[in-house]
Amino acid sequence: MMAHSFLLCVLVLLDVVAVSQAWFFFRSYPTAKAKTQVDAKCSELAVKGDCGFYSCFERRLTCGRNWYNVKYGEPYCRDFRAFQKTFSEKAQRFINDSQVCMGRELLEWYQRDSLNCHDFTHEAFRAMSRCYIHSGFCDVIIKDAVNFLSIYQPQHLFQRGALKIWREILRITYHCDPDSIKEIIQTLFESMKD
Ligand SMILES: *[C@@H]1O[C@H](CO)[C@@H](O)[C@H](O)[C@H]1NC(C)=O
Repeated sequence: MMAHSFLLCVLVLLDVVAVSQAWFFFRSYPTAKAKTQVDAKCSELAVKGDCGFYSCFERRLTCGRNWYNVKYGEPYCRDFRAFQKTFSEKAQRFINDSQVCMGRELLEWYQRDSLNCHDFTHEAFRAMSRCYIHSGFCDVIIKDAVNFLSIYQPQHLFQRGALKIWREILRITYHCDPDSIKEIIQTLFESMKD
């Protein structure tokens, strides 16, 4: 019990540090201006939930490696696809549905002539919450917890900006069922011992 509360405190604290550092380094948030026309092939990738959409998007509106598409969108999308077969049938459907949902949500941003990279990243995380809940995350997170952990590797908590992802996952899980948080953190601890 103590350990659980402790981990949550650590997560929150580190998150505050991460956010304030980000603010320090990017005091003026970059704006991306469209470098190419809207490409129908990109839009097609988006509605199919194909991970190639993120780099297609990035070619038109380039925010770089500190922002959503390069840092979170594409790598986690590819990890989900690479490990998809290890998930339960229901969770595999969740992966398909949530990727399609994300593509549809981000398509509107892709079609803009410019975007603020910080605002876009923030909105993409909001979209992720909506898409996860809409695609049945609550129905699969407990049974497939170990599989999800192989994607959101807790060993990499301090790399790849995994902290921001974890804050979001814990927030969504809490929304699903406040009690399930305990099981998730327990699984998290067990996987960290390996
Ligand atoms: C997920 O999508 C892939 C490719 O579109 C498809 O082959 C697979 O059957 C889908 N899986 C589920 C569980 O819906």
